[in-house]
Amino acid sequence: MEKLEVGLNGCAFPMPCAIVGVEVNDRPNYLTIAWLTMVNSKPPYLGIALGKTRYTNQGIRENGSFSVNIPSSNMVEVTDYCGVVSGDKFDKAQKFTTFYGKLKTAPMIKECPYNLECRLIETVELPSNQFFIGEIVAGYADEQYLTNGVPDLKKIDPFVLSMAHARYFGIGEYLGKAWDIGKKCTAKKK
Ligand SMILES: Cc1cc2nc3c(=O)[nH]c(=O)nc-3n(C[C@H](O)[C@H](O)[C@H](O)COP(=O)(O)O)c2cc1C
Repeated sequence: MEKLEVGLNGCAFPMPCAIVGVEVNDRPNYLTIAWLTMVNSKPPYLGIALGKTRYTNQGIRENGSFSVNIPSSNMVEVTDYCGVVSGDKFDKAQKFTTFYGKLKTAPMIKECPYNLECRLIETVELPSNQFFIGEIVAGYADEQYLTNGVPDLKKIDPFVLSMAHARYFGIGEYLGKAWDIGKKCTAKKK
């Protein structure tokens, strides 16, 4: 069967949901994000794409720092909330307990099981977005979310966004060992 061209109104690939924390005008503000990715391994750089008009961008520019907080699936309601109202008009920080790490200007959410603190390295100007690249200077997690001292995805229980249908989904079951299970496949050597 031939593939159908489906248009671009909403990308169907899964996007991890997180909450970005910034300090704006000396107050913490939190914004929901789904456009984020690691972009460098050593040192560890993480990139976040924000619309140019977001209130949050002001805080990143002011302080050169931001945090990325990973919510559990039981935080889906408050995560959505941080993505539908602006810190310009609402004090979203009231919904969380804020803590600070090394940078002092990257507020983080205690209720989120996993938190990353980032120092701004570079801002890439795109037609409608600003892509902020930050170096991860520290990661924090509660002990209950660790296995052998490492943050455990199953315990953290994050969720993803399907932009195409504006729906959230859990991450599902463990499928196999990465960089390993594929060794069972074979292809003709070139
Ligand atoms: C699930 C979800 C994902 C979102 N992802 C992004 C994103 O990746 N980049 C972005 O700029 N806005 C994204 N938004 C929209 C912002 O979170 C929203 O405009 C927010 O109210 C801006 O907050 P601020 O004005 O306090 O900065 C998302 C919203 C939701 C609900």
